Amino acid sequence: MANSSDINLRGRIDVMTQKGLRRNIHELPFTGGVNAPEATGGVGVPEAEGATKYNLSCNDYLNLIHHPYLQECASSAMAMYGVGSGGSRLMGGATPLHGELEERLAVLTGFPSTLLVGSGYLANYGLLTALLGKSDYVFFDKLNHASLLDGILHSGCKWKSFPHKNYHALEEGLRRIADPSVGGIATRYANIYIVTDSIFSMDGDRADLVELQRLSTMYGAKLIIDESHAMGIMGIMGIMGGAGGGGGGGGGLCVEMGVRPYIVVGTLSKAYASYGGFISCSHLVREYLLNTMRTFIFSTSLPPAVVASSLGALDIVAAAPTMGSELLLRARMFHGMLMDAGLRVDDGSGTAADGSARSVPMLLPFSSQIVPVMVYDNDRAVVLSRLLGEAGVHVRAIRYPTVPLHGARLRFSITLGFDEGHLAEIAHSVVQVIAKSSGTTR
Ligand SMILES: Cc1ncc(COP(=O)(O)O)c(C=O)c1O
Repeated sequence: MANSSDINLRGRIDVMTQKGLRRNIHELPFTGGVNAPEATGGVGVPEAEGATKYNLSCNDYLNLIHHPYLQECASSAMAMYGVGSGGSRLMGGATPLHGELEERLAVLTGFPSTLLVGSGYLANYGLLTALLGKSDYVFFDKLNHASLLDGILHSGCKWKSFPHKNYHALEEGLRRIADPSVGGIATRYANIYIVTDSIFSMDGDRADLVELQRLSTMYGAKLIIDESHAMGIMGIMGIMGGAGGGGGGGGGLCVEMGVRPYIVVGTLSKAYASYGGFISCSHLVREYLLNTMRTFIFSTSLPPAVVASSLGALDIVAAAPTMGSELLLRARMFHGMLMDAGLRVDDGSGTAADGSARSVPMLLPFSSQIVPVMVYDNDRAVVLSRLLGEAGVHVRAIRYPTVPLHGARLRFSITLGFDEGHLAEIAHSVVQVIAKSSGTTR
């Protein structure tokens, strides 16, 4: 018999169902973007009728998950160290591989040092809860990743969010808190921080890092940038000052734009294909985190094989630094295919560029390998996701609270596994299911 707290949980889930917001797990028989032997190193799963061919909700941007070199790196490490690290870094779980990866990530991001953490989520959450306190003031972009938000909210600091990329609103806030005439630091607060994603995970657009650097210098605020979706794709390796516009190399958007924040956070689970998070910072900040950051101190370190695979991914990107640019070209191609097929671009004003209302799915302007098709309505996003699934295209409906209310969308992650033919087939399916679903709700 269900007890009353179970009934309470059921009630909450029912509310989510009614609002079209209930989540579930959908298993796929393969990893990576494309289920084909040539894309998965020979392990493509045989295609059954109606089986999934393409996974557009996969962050293996550089198509490295099945790369034989990474598998070789991981298996040699596994042969040497076994399947796990056996403890936290501070106890018995520190191998030379962990240290080597930190050194290489520091060079890549242009910082004196890096601290490796269990995941990107644990890096953001742990960093912010360790660093920020009651005497600090934080400004953050409303569309930042949940891990940044959670860290800020649980740190006890004072905070204010600004509307997405509205740097006028940010400056207004900074002006109230900080006084530039005395070097920028407010008398009331020990530190002021600005926290933002560089590439926003759900819209795929880019923060204006140059403007953020200007504001941080002017108002004495420390800039913390989450580079999770830019690592491996943007930035020329280790050269601060950047190459500008669309270069590859893998150090992130800060490197590409020549921006030097206080701290950069990244993940190894997207372009670098395996798992783990990291924090690039000064030696002092690293030492402080190593002594205070609970998600580092009280959690087992990454398995050596996972670390070795990330080292392998760094080798691959270093040897082919234009992979990121190639990826962006393919994503632009996909965006162009959808436009050619009739999807319009949402200019953000509530209407399309031609003035029609946003009752039809629309694209956002092209910015990165993340290409969202805005559906706005939860139920319709779920229907489109289901219809695409039936057509062999796996793409999850993204809904509130991951995105704002009425911001439901299909978020297409483009990877180097997709060639022009795949992208054309996927774009064709998208347009077909949109036409098929017109007027349909569930
Ligand atoms: C912007 C951003 N930051 C952090 C994370 C968390 O990274 P991880 O998956 O390594 O925990 C993600 C991934 O979902 C992300 O999109």
